[in-house]
Amino acid sequence: MTAPGRRRPAHVLANAPFRRLWTAMSVCSLGDWLNILALTALAGNLMRDDYRVQSLAIGGVFVAKMLPAILLGPLAGVFADRFDRRLTMFAADLARFAIVLSIPFVHSYQWVIIATILVECINLFWVPAKDATVPNLVPKEQLESANQLNLLVTYGTAPIAAMLFAALSVVGDLATSTVPFLSGRDGTGLALIVNACAYLVSAFLIFTLRSIPKRDGAISTPSVLKQVIEGWRYVSGHRMVRGLIIGMLGAFAAGGAVVGVAKIYVGALGGGDAAYGVVFGAVFVGMALGMFFGPRLLRQLSRRRLFGLAITVAGLVLVTIALVHNLPIVVMLTVVLGACAGIAWIIGYTLIGLEVEDGLRGRTFSFLQSTARVTLLLVVAVANPVAAIFGVHVLELGEFAYQFDGSNLVLVIGGVLATAVGILALRHMDDRKGVPFTADLIAAVRGERLGTEPAEHVPGLFVAFEGGEGSGKTTQSRLIAIWLRDQGYDVVQTREPGSTKVGMRLRAILLDAAEAGLSARAEALLYAADRAEHVEKVIRPALYRGALVVTDRYVDSSLAYQGAGRALDPEDVSKINAWATGGLVPHLTVLIDTPPQVGLTRLGGAADRIEAEPLEFHERVRKEFRALAAAAPERYLVVDGTLPPEVITRQIQDRIHEILPDPVPRESEDATGTMPAIRD
Ligand code: TYD
Repeated sequence: MTAPGRRRPAHVLANAPFRRLWTAMSVCSLGDWLNILALTALAGNLMRDDYRVQSLAIGGVFVAKMLPAILLGPLAGVFADRFDRRLTMFAADLARFAIVLSIPFVHSYQWVIIATILVECINLFWVPAKDATVPNLVPKEQLESANQLNLLVTYGTAPIAAMLFAALSVVGDLATSTVPFLSGRDGTGLALIVNACAYLVSAFLIFTLRSIPKRDGAISTPSVLKQVIEGWRYVSGHRMVRGLIIGMLGAFAAGGAVVGVAKIYVGALGGGDAAYGVVFGAVFVGMALGMFFGPRLLRQLSRRRLFGLAITVAGLVLVTIALVHNLPIVVMLTVVLGACAGIAWIIGYTLIGLEVEDGLRGRTFSFLQSTARVTLLLVVAVANPVAAIFGVHVLELGEFAYQFDGSNLVLVIGGVLATAVGILALRHMDDRKGVPFTADLIAAVRGERLGTEPAEHVPGLFVAFEGGEGSGKTTQSRLIAIWLRDQGYDVVQTREPGSTKVGMRLRAILLDAAEAGLSARAEALLYAADRAEHVEKVIRPALYRGALVVTDRYVDSSLAYQGAGRALDPEDVSKINAWATGGLVPHLTVLIDTPPQVGLTRLGGAADRIEAEPLEFHERVRKEFRALAAAAPERYLVVDGTLPPEVITRQIQDRIHEILPDPVPRESEDATGTMPAIRD
C-alpha cells in the first residue's frame, strides 16, 4: 500500500507521446533486423554461383551497413540538431520506406549495396533525432527506464525479426515457385516489403506525434573513436576490469562470427533463407536465456569463475558448431552458444557495476558499448573475406567426404580465440586461488561451496591479527601500523568489536561481565553485527581508497570463540559472517599463537565475560585458530607468541613486506593504480 499523498510515479509508458515514439522505435528496430537478414540473404542469393564471391558479397553488405555510422556518425549528429526533430524522423522514415521497397524490384547486387549505404546514412539522422527527443518527452527521473525500454526493443526485436524472416522466406519461396508472375524473383523480396512497411508505419506514428516540446541543450553524441580512446585510459589501469572487458568482447566476437558467416554456413549445410533466419534467431534467443538465467545459475560458484567458464564453453561450442555438419544440431548448439555469451555479458556487466567506483562506472560502460560495436564491425568485416579466401575444401576419407570451407574455418578461429580468452579470464581474475577449479565446479553443481570465501580484489591491503587472550596481538598490530605509516602508507588501524558508533554499544553488551546470560547464538549474531558495521563503515571504504587496513581480530575470532569455544555449528558461524562481511577476506591473517596458560597470566585487571571462561574453552579456541591457518597457509602467518616481542615483530614485518603494494603510494589516488579519481 502506498501512503496517501505519496503516489508511485506512473510507468514511463503511461506517457502517451513517449509510448507512441517507443512503438515507432520498436517497429523500426524490427524493420532494421529484418533488413540485415534480408539484405545479406539476398546478396548471397544474387551471387549464388561462386562460394568466394558469395562470401565477399555478404561481407560487403555488413560493411556497407556499419561504415556510415563510424565515418559520418558525429557529423550527422551535429546536423540532426539543426532541423525539426519530428520532421526529420518523418522524412527519414518515408525515404527509408521508398529505398527499401525499391530493392526487390531493382534486384541487383550493386543496388543492394548503394541502398544499404543510403538507408544507413538516413539512420544517422533518424537515430540522433530520436535520442534527442526522448528527454523532451520523458521527465528526468524516468529517463533511465526509458533508456532500458529503448535497449529492450533494440535487441529484443532481433529474435522476433529472425523468426518472422524465416516464416516470410518460406512464404516467399513458395510464392516464387508457384505464382508464374513472380518466377525468377527472390524469396527475400517479401521480407523486404514488410521491412519497408515497418518504416511506413513508423512514419505515420511519428507524424501523429504532434507536439515535441523544445528544450534547450542539444544532446551531443561523442564520436565512437573518442569514447574508445578515453575509456581505455581508465580501464587499462584496472586489472580486473581489463580482464572483464576483454572477456566480454571475446564473447561478443564469438557471437559476431556466427552472425557474420551464418548465411554461407547454413547454405553449405543445405539450408535456405528460412534456416538462416532460424540460426540468426537462435543466437539471440540463447542470449536472452543466458542473460535471464545466468545470475541464478550455479550460485555457489564464484561469479568470476562462472564468467571465465561461460566464455570457455562458448568457444568450445563454437568449434563444435564449425565441425558438425547437421543443421538441427547446429541450431541447438547455437542456442547454447548464445546462452554462454549472454551469461558472460550479464555477469561482466554486474561485476563492473559492483567493482568499478561510482565516478568511473559510466565511462566504463560507454567504453564497453563503443568497443563492442567496433569489435562487431571488425569481426563481420573480416569473417567473410577470410571465408572467401579460404574457399571450399573437401577431405576425401575413403568413400566418406568431409567438406571444410571458409565459414568453418572462421568459426573454428572464433571458437579457439574465445576459448583462449575464457581460459585467460579464468587465470587472470581467479578469486579462489588454491581451490581446484573442477572440484569447485562439481561442488557448485551439487549446490555446495568449496573451501574459503574469496579474497577480494581491492586496491588496498587488508591484514588481520588474531590470537587468544593475552597473545600480544594488540601490541603487535599497533607496532606494525606504526611501521607501515613510517614508510609513507595510508594506514587504518582498527579493532573488533567496537570500532563504530553502533559497534561501541555492541561491545559494551558483549564484554560486560554482567550480561553473562547472553545466549551463544545471540552472541555470535552480535559479533557479526558489529563486524558488518565495521566492514561497511571502516574497512571497505579504506580499502577502496587504497589504504592498508590493520585490524585487531576479524572473522576468525568468531569461528574460534563462537564456533569452537561456544560449540556452535562452524558452518553457521561461517555463513552469517560471510553474509555480514559480504565475503571480504583479509589478504593476510597474522596468528599469534600463544598457549592459554601463558596468555591468561599476562592479563591484568578484572576478567571480561570471555576471559573468565575456563581453560578448556581457551584451548578449543587456540586449536581452531591453528586449524584455520593450516587450511589456507598462503593467507596466514603463524608466529609463536612465546618468542620475545621484537622477534615476533620482525617476523611479521618480513611477511608483510612481501605483499606490500609497490611503489609506495603517497596519495590515496595513487593507490588505486593508474586510474585517476575523476568524477563524471
Ligand atoms: P578485547 O578487549 O578486544 O580483547 P583482546 O585484546 O583479547 O582482543 O575483547 C575482545 C573479546 O571478544 C575477546 O575475548 C574475544 C572476543 N571475541 C569473540 O568472542 N568473538 C569475536 O568475533 C570477536 C571479534 C571477539
